[in-house]
Amino acid sequence: MNRKLKKFVDRLPILKTLKPKRKEKNGDYYEVRMVEFEQKLHRDLNPTKLWGYNARFPGPLFDVNQGNPIQVKWINDLPDKHLLPIDRSILHHDIPDVRTVVHLHGSETQSDSDGYPEAWYTKNFKSVGEFFTRKVYEYPNHQRGATLWYHDHAMGITRLNVYAGLAGMYIIRDKQETTLNLPKDQYEIPLMIIDRSFNEDGSLSYPSQPNNPQESLPNPSIIPFFLGDTILVNGKVWPFLEVEPRKYRFRILNASNSRGYQLYFDSGQSFYQIGTDGGLLEKTVKVNKLAIEPAERADVIIDFSNFSGQTILLKNDLGPNASPDDETGDVMQFKVSLPLTGEDKSSIPQYLSTIPPLTQNNITTFRNLKLVGSVDQYGRPLLLLNNKKWMDPATEKPHFGATEIWSIMNTMGFPHPIHIHLIQFHILNRQPFDLDLYNKDGTIIFTGPPVPPEANERGWKDTVTVPPATITRLIMKFAPYTGQYVWHCHILEHEDHDMMRPLIVIDPKNDD
Ligand code: C2O
Ligand code: CU
Ligand code: CU
Repeated sequence: MNRKLKKFVDRLPILKTLKPKRKEKNGDYYEVRMVEFEQKLHRDLNPTKLWGYNARFPGPLFDVNQGNPIQVKWINDLPDKHLLPIDRSILHHDIPDVRTVVHLHGSETQSDSDGYPEAWYTKNFKSVGEFFTRKVYEYPNHQRGATLWYHDHAMGITRLNVYAGLAGMYIIRDKQETTLNLPKDQYEIPLMIIDRSFNEDGSLSYPSQPNNPQESLPNPSIIPFFLGDTILVNGKVWPFLEVEPRKYRFRILNASNSRGYQLYFDSGQSFYQIGTDGGLLEKTVKVNKLAIEPAERADVIIDFSNFSGQTILLKNDLGPNASPDDETGDVMQFKVSLPLTGEDKSSIPQYLSTIPPLTQNNITTFRNLKLVGSVDQYGRPLLLLNNKKWMDPATEKPHFGATEIWSIMNTMGFPHPIHIHLIQFHILNRQPFDLDLYNKDGTIIFTGPPVPPEANERGWKDTVTVPPATITRLIMKFAPYTGQYVWHCHILEHEDHDMMRPLIVIDPKNDD
């Protein structure tokens, strides 16, 4: 960072709920415009030029009920010049720089509204990608209540479009949830956590090349990962929130490009986690440290009732090797300074919902998928799924209605958050293997038994941490749609550089 920004001087912004433009027979109709605009991200920072949905960052909040489908026209009204350095060497064709396509992450959506990376479009739909088919997207919202989010997914520049500000949150509510007496209304607050870096003048800083680039590298060149030096929540740098001494519900999303967080409170208090990516857990899980990788969501209840008058920090554990001037160990501040406006009648239920296990009786397909490190033609790290690039013919082609087990083997020395579109899955287990031996001669020797997922991972997930030197096993059922989807690493710098693959759900009755 070029300047020290004072922490906890700005109030946490509360996301505003978007109203539909009109009611239609097939559901409420919304319009959202992507524009370039300026927003003040910190008291002492000049307004920052951003790209945002409806000129705000984060974008407007969608708050919808299960069973009520909606339609959204996502309008690209962005300038012709990109805000950030574009690496054209990773693209497969010559395409316009400013292209967008929106994906509703975690949703069960038909393929033509899912935001396929090559279904991008430019301003006024003047130029469109090969897979573009429709201007208005439909979201059926028939899945269970969950905290979803939407973000840009354009081929080869997702990291830049999201970094520029194209991300927002989307809540689906259902009846089960309303029976639970959870904290609600002003006591239910979505929190989008991201990291960014800034230039002296307040503009976003994103490297145009890796540190110490070789001369032969393209300029701009994609970087292997991005870690910002400043943490923002709901679009403010290190904000504070004044709270009452009572229970609150926070829907936490990590929308960072690459950064994972280990969240904890300096007060020592716990998170009561009630939900994951795909909605409510079966039982509330008390956690003292909440790990959240890019794109994951955690629905939590925090009880401030014994902390009246105190100031509590939400921290990020950087581990023992962190540099002393790394400021990203702070996230935001809670001031328990408001008087209680009334008795807190909300509860932290023990039992939340039913999560039926996926049956392992008739698995037809077991896929062994490897996360592998290699190098591209410029000598840059090229991280691949099963040694295949994005443009290689699809290999993951599950049948509609099939239940599959995916064993994802991470042969690299660091974790990757793997995300699958269309479905929510269950984590079966993780099993460690000897990575050195594997790297020497390819033999897989397990160094321990399969370990069941953490208690707060035993729900529906769409993004999973695949730790180094382990095989992470998932079970999933491919429904309720067929068609063209993707699966990928959600570290956006990896995704953009070929760590993404097509996923085609096939109807066996009219096979491809
Ligand atoms: Cu949140 Cu395919 O992405
Ligand atoms: Cu997704
Ligand atoms: Cu990755």
